[in-house]
Amino acid sequence: MENNIDIIDLNHMDTALDDRFEFRGILPEEDGQAAAIEKICFPPNEACSETIMKQRIAAAPDLFLVAVDRGTGKIAGFLNGLSTNECIFRDEFFVDVGLYDPQGENIMLLGLDVLPQYRGQGLAAAIVSRYIRRQAKRGRKQLLLTCLESKIKMYEKMGFSNQGIAGSSWGGEQWYEMRCQLNCGE
Ligand SMILES: CC(C)(COP(=O)(O)OP(=O)(O)OC[C@H]1O[C@@H](n2cnc3c(N)ncnc32)[C@H](O)[C@@H]1OP(=O)(O)O)[C@@H](O)C(=O)NCCC(=O)NCCS
Repeated sequence: MENNIDIIDLNHMDTALDDRFEFRGILPEEDGQAAAIEKICFPPNEACSETIMKQRIAAAPDLFLVAVDRGTGKIAGFLNGLSTNECIFRDEFFVDVGLYDPQGENIMLLGLDVLPQYRGQGLAAAIVSRYIRRQAKRGRKQLLLTCLESKIKMYEKMGFSNQGIAGSSWGGEQWYEMRCQLNCGE
């Protein structure tokens, strides 16, 4: 079976972004920043609440990858998720941090955020490719997410494949399930 991380040419990562941004896990004291960025990036019907965001950060900080602007010391963008042995995305992961299984072989990705002033420079792609590499090294098998139709191509370029319409009704929208295969486990 094709291993999607092979099709992401990690040698072509934009290393110039490493000069401008530090890519790392989130710190507990950055939880307020992440919650504020989420409110800027998503409409109220889709955004994660401040309470849930803080719970996620407290429970699974290593499942966040933040890009910190070296100039300001502040977060410019981040990706977060929760690990699990489940392999089909369901909306409960957005609101129930108790579903987090640290040993889970898959990750439900719950939000990709880049502040407006940092968009269009490849930052989201850089965050996702680093997240994929980091979680592949940790032996995870799959990354799953849901997205609107308008973002399918974006995620395909990032190494995900479209699984069709998802069972999700989050925010009253129609979602597509996207999957990135990391390790086949054989
Ligand atoms: C979507 C978002 C994360 C993109 O961040 P970004 O740093 O500007 O993205 P990048 O510059 O890394 O772009 C990567 C690719 O995705 C595409 N892309 C970027 N924003 C897009 C958007 N809003 N819709 C569709 N495609 C998009 C780009 O065209 C680019 O492809 P290219 O390299 O062929 O030009 C950012 O606009 C954001 O935070 N939006 C609000 C929250 C959101 O929608 N998150 C995703 C939820 S599924």
